[in-house]
Amino acid sequence: MPHTVVIFGASGDLTSRKLIPALYLLHQKGRLPKETRVVGVARTPFSHDAWRAELETSTKKFTGKEFDATAWQTFASTIFYQRGDIDDAASFTALKSFLETDIEKGAPASRLYYLSTSPTLYEAAIEQLGAAGMAEESQGVRRIIIEKPFGTNLASAKALNIATHKVFSEKQVYRIDHYLGKETVQNLLVLRFANTIFEPIWNRNYIDHVQITVAEEVEVGSRGGYYDKSGVLRDMFQNHILQLLMITAMEAPVRYQADFIRDEKVKVLRAIRPLSGADFANCTIRGQYAGYREAKDVPPDSNVATFAALKLQVDNWRWNRVPFYLRSGKAMSCRTTQIVIQFKEPPQLLFGDGPRSNLDANKLVIQIQPAEGIQIHFLTKVPDAGMKLRMTDLNFSFSREYVGKSLPDAYQRLLLDALNGDASLFARSDEVELAWGIIDPILAAWQSPAAPPLEFYPPGQWGPDLSDQWMHEQKRSWFDVCPVLH
Ligand code: BG6
Repeated sequence: MPHTVVIFGASGDLTSRKLIPALYLLHQKGRLPKETRVVGVARTPFSHDAWRAELETSTKKFTGKEFDATAWQTFASTIFYQRGDIDDAASFTALKSFLETDIEKGAPASRLYYLSTSPTLYEAAIEQLGAAGMAEESQGVRRIIIEKPFGTNLASAKALNIATHKVFSEKQVYRIDHYLGKETVQNLLVLRFANTIFEPIWNRNYIDHVQITVAEEVEVGSRGGYYDKSGVLRDMFQNHILQLLMITAMEAPVRYQADFIRDEKVKVLRAIRPLSGADFANCTIRGQYAGYREAKDVPPDSNVATFAALKLQVDNWRWNRVPFYLRSGKAMSCRTTQIVIQFKEPPQLLFGDGPRSNLDANKLVIQIQPAEGIQIHFLTKVPDAGMKLRMTDLNFSFSREYVGKSLPDAYQRLLLDALNGDASLFARSDEVELAWGIIDPILAAWQSPAAPPLEFYPPGQWGPDLSDQWMHEQKRSWFDVCPVLH
C-alpha cells in the first residue's frame, strides 16, 4: 500500500534540518516503502516547486557528502506542498481533499502525520484531524508522530494525552525522543541483551553506582526564549536522560516488541523513589553558566537552571542502594553523552601498598556520542615496576570497527520505524506521564524558598564546583573525560 507522510510545520527548522534530509537519505538508500509521498503543510504560501527548491538547498547543506543530485531529483518529484493553517477547519477539509484526490487518487494509502509545529498547536492540530475524519482508518492506517515536548508538566502532558486519545488510539501514536533513534542507544540494548557476560554483574552486587552525563559545549544561543521557559530539567532530563536511565536499568523484555520493551521501561520509572523533603537539597544541584542572563531573549534576572545534577534511587531488587547520578548542562567542557557503570572495589586489596585512592575500581564506559564506543577500564600491572598497578582499557570504537560506515541520524531510523508501524523506540503515554511525575516535584521545589541555591559556573567546565564537591562528599567522583575523536 502507498504511504503519505504529511508534515505539519513544513516551513520550520526541524523539517528542513532533520525530517527532509532523513526521508531523502532513506529514499537514496532504497529504504522508504514503495510509493512514499511527502506533503508539507504550513501557512507560508509556496508552490510545490518553490518548496522543493528550498528543500534542495537545505538538504544539500545538511546531508553534505551524502547528497546526490540524481537521487534528489527522483525524491523531489514525490514531495508536495499544501498551504494550511492549523486554526482553520477549512484548511483541513482542503488538505483532506488534496490528499485523497491529487496524491492518493482515491486509492487506499497509509498515512503518517508529523506534528513539527510549535507545541502550542498540537492539541488544535489533533482536534482538526479528528473533526475532518482524517484519523479514521477505513482507507489505510493513520499514524501520528508527536515531537517533544509532550507537555511542560504532568498536568499538561495528561491533557495532551487525553486530547490525543480522543482522536487517535495509543497504537496510532508515535512520540519521538530522538535519543532513542541514536544507534548507540539501541546498541545499549544489544550490549545488555545480546551478550551474556554483562548481565550477571549488572546489579547491586557488583555495581557501586551509575553516572549518566549529557554535556553540551554550546550555550543557548538564539534559543533563549524557549530555553528560559524550559530549563535543563524539562529540556533534557524529563525525556532524553530518563530514557537513557530506563534502558540502562530495565529488565530484559520478553521479546523485542514495542509494548514488551515499554512495559519494562515503565517499571523502572515506577521504581524511582520520588524525591521529597530534604532530598531536594541533598540530591539535586542546579546551576547556571555565567553569561546566560545576557543571552538573547533571556531576562537579566533569570533563575533558570542550565545545569542540573540529580541523585536518584531505583527501588527494586536489581538496583537497591545503587545511586544513579544524572547530570546535564549547556556551556560545559565538551560535548559528550556517556553512561558510566562504576563497579565496586574488590573486597580485599592485595596490591595497594600506597594510598587506597591510587587504586580505582572497574568501569564500563558507554560513549553515546560523539566518540561512539564502549570502554572497559581495568587494572594492569605496570611492567618492571614491582606491583605497581595502572588503570588501562579495552576500547571498542564504532568508527574503527565499522570503517566507512557513518552512523545515521536518529530521524532516519525513527521515521522508518513509524512508517513500518514499529513503536519500540517511541515513548508511550504512561511513560511520559511517569517521567513528568519524577521531574515535577523537583521543578516545584526549585521554585520554593527551600530551593537549593543556584550555583554559577564559568562556561567551559563540568558545571558548578559544588557538583564535584557533592560527589567527593559521597566518596565518588564524576568521570570528567572528554572523548577522543578518531
Ligand atoms: C534537544 C534539546 O531535545 O536535544 C536541545 O532541546 C539539545 O537543547 C538537544 O541541545 C541535544 O541533542 P543531541 O542529539 O545533540 O545530543
